Order: sequence, then C-alpha cells, then structure tokens
Amino acid sequence: MDKLFIEGGSVLKGSVTVSGSKNALLPVLAAALLTPEKCVIKNAPALSDTNTMIRIIKNLGVQVEVEGSVIKIKSGNFKKFAAPYRLVSTMRASFCVLGPLLARLKKAEVSLPGGCVIGVRPVDLHIKGLKALGASIEIKDGYVCAKAKRLCGKDIFLGGAFGSSVLATGNIMMAATLAKGTTVIENAACEPEVVSLADFLNKMGANIKGQGSPTIEIKGVKSLGGAEYENIPDRIEASTLAIASAITKGEVTIKNVIVKHLSALIEKLEEAGVTVKRGKNFIIVKRNGSVKPVDVTALPYPGFPTDAQAQFMSLMSIASGISVITEKIYPDRFMHVPELNRMGADIYREGPYAIVHGVKQLNGAPVMASDLRASAALVLAGLVAKGKTEVLRVYHLDRGYENLDIKLTQLGAKIYRTKQ
Ligand code: UD1
Repeated sequence: MDKLFIEGGSVLKGSVTVSGSKNALLPVLAAALLTPEKCVIKNAPALSDTNTMIRIIKNLGVQVEVEGSVIKIKSGNFKKFAAPYRLVSTMRASFCVLGPLLARLKKAEVSLPGGCVIGVRPVDLHIKGLKALGASIEIKDGYVCAKAKRLCGKDIFLGGAFGSSVLATGNIMMAATLAKGTTVIENAACEPEVVSLADFLNKMGANIKGQGSPTIEIKGVKSLGGAEYENIPDRIEASTLAIASAITKGEVTIKNVIVKHLSALIEKLEEAGVTVKRGKNFIIVKRNGSVKPVDVTALPYPGFPTDAQAQFMSLMSIASGISVITEKIYPDRFMHVPELNRMGADIYREGPYAIVHGVKQLNGAPVMASDLRASAALVLAGLVAKGKTEVLRVYHLDRGYENLDIKLTQLGAKIYRTKQ
C-alpha cells in the first residue's frame, strides 16, 4: 500500500493535460457486452477501477485487450453470466453490467455492491427500472438474479429520494436498447457521462434520443454492432486540478477539458475570487488575492458536482470568512471533515451541511484517505499546508486519478510516494 508525503507551500505553475473520464469509461466498457462484435475504446485512463471492470468482463469469458490507453472488447462468447462479490464489492460501477448481461443473455447474476463509506447507496432504482422492462428479479445470497425472456419497452419514472441516478439511468438505457418497443426514462440523470454512454450506444446502432435531458427515449433494436469510442475528458480530474491551482495561488493551464462540463465549478471559483480564462478546450486558473468564502450545494448535473465537494471544501478551509457547503446527493459524504480539521481547518458538520470557518493557515499532519474524492481533498490541503502532510491509504486516489501526484509534481508541487 502506498502513501504520499507532501511538502506544502509550492505555487503551481505550468500546464497539465486531463486524462479520460473514469465515470464515462466504466459504463461504456459494460455496454460493449451488448454486441458480439469488436468495440474499440480510446482514451481510457489507466486506473485501478479500469482494471477492476476489465477483470469483471474477462471473468465472464469475454476477450479484452489493452494497448496503452486503448481497450478492445469482443464479447463473442460468454462462459458465465455472473459478476462476483469479490470484484463488485470493490467498485459499485461494476453493477452496471447487470443491464447489458440481462439484455444480451436473458439472465444475469450480479452481486449487490454493499455499503460504501460515502453513505448508503441503494440499487432500488436499477431494480425498479429492469422490473419495469419485464425482468423477474430475485435477491439470493447477496446477488441480484435477473431473468427475462424478452425485455419490453416501458415508460419508467426513475427518481428516488435523492433525485436521479447516473448509473441506474445507464443500466436501464443499456438494457432498453435491445428491448421490444420504446422505453421512455423520466427523471433521467443529465450528467455528461450519461450522454457519452448514449452516444456510444447510438454508434453501436441503438436508437436513443434526449440524452442530456431528464427524458430519454430508447427505441429498441434487434441487435447492436461493434463501434469505436473516444472517451471524454474527466471533468472531476479537471476540477481537482483547477482547485489545486487556486489553493496554491498558482497559474495553471488545464488542457483537454470540455469547458461546458465545468460551468458550475468555474462559477464558484470566480465567486471565490479566482480568475478563470475559458479557452476552446482548456482553462487557465489563476489566483492573486485571498480566497473569498462561497456557499456551495452539491446537486445533480448541471449543478455543482458532489465528486468535487470535498476538494472545494479544502479551498474554503483557507477562505477569508465562513462558507456553508451543502451535500444534496450523499448527505453523509463528509469523511474528509475530521481529517481536514486535523490539519488545522475549522469545519463543523451538521447533517448535510458543513460550516467552514476559513483559517489563515493549514498545518501538515498525517491524515487518512477514506474514499476517492476525500483523498484528493487531503492532497489539495497538503499542497497549501505549512510543513509535511502524510496521506495514508492512497489506493483510494489511484482508483480514480491517473498519475495525479506526478501531474502535480510537474506543476511544481513537492510530493513523494512511498510504501506505507
Ligand atoms: C455516479 C458516479 C459517482 C457520483 C454519483 C453522483 C460513476 C461510476 N459514479 O455514481 O462518482 O458521485 O454518480 O453524481 O459514475 N440512489 C438511490 N437508488 C439507486 C441509485 C442511487 O437512492 O438505485 C441514490 C444514491 O444513494 C444517491 C443518489 O441516488 O443519493 C445519486 O446516486 P447515483 O447517481 O446513482 O450515483 P452512482 O450512479 O452510483
């Protein structure tokens, strides 16, 4: 297991290129199970989550080849129709093989993903949607066992206690591509990753309209074919790098971004007194003055992303005043709060709110990464803290960031990776 040492105080300068999106890639890999023909996926980030998904797909008996950032999948023959607990439990996104397997093989067994440190994460919407398409579903020995002779299109309202669901929308959309008739998903997630999945499915021969809006219409087709896909840039990595520049009073050009995907973050950075210059596929993030306190609410897209909430809190922890951060998607996603407080931050959490009293200076300390985005928040805090920060359990970071420590080092940060 690795850990990171960060010597705070460096000002980040230069330019950095964002990798392909983890959250867009994972469901696209699952979508390749819908066709016996070859799919070629480009700009795939080298991450442990990517490897987990590949292991799940290979475990089904499917051929997968990886050449650098290109992944080729040919789902000609399946030896199995199950995704086991030992793999699914390490990454919830693997649950999205359920829809494609069911549509293609008429049966699927996928382990329930179980709990997660960022809060309760049920899969009721995935199950509700597949049942609506005519699947019979049983929960047996911790597995979701689904069967359907032929899925049939239906109007499905896919809203839960916390609104829309990104992966449930993807799962149902994938299953519906091969269903008989038309499916309409109401209250569909509008995230760019859903749009990219729909675009890939359409390249495979699906008939999907409305992606990016809350109503998605899928006209079922008899079969899908192979396709090539160019993965979109990772908007959360871009957001993390933008906050890294802002927190260190730096000036960083962040290349390979879709600027529109960053609107909510850019607006909040500007409110905080950070200058953001928008280019065609890059942004330049620069801070001169102090960080102003800004209230932020994490909401479904196009709102402020929950996956950047922890990192923004690190920035607010050195603001010149009080900010309130509200989490509307995962009300318990505040594992980073006690760790930031160990570094001298002054954050008080009450239910889904964190009240952040900005402090003049954070101090280096040993801290424990609890989850993917919390680890990134601690790295950001370490960049601006006085002295040395030791971030333990960085395997969380490696699940979702391709070489973040190397990229930050190239921008001037002092980060060292060692064995824990
Ligand atoms: C995806 C992202 C994750 C991001 C999240 C919200 C991937 C691989 N992961 O996760 O990084 O934080 O979107 O933007 O793309 N919910 C239910 N029932 C369900 C499913 C979800 O109540 O069946 C709830 C969740 O507990 C949560 C909310 O809906 O409160 C949104 O979750 P969801 O959009 O499903 O997250 P994921 O798709 O799992």
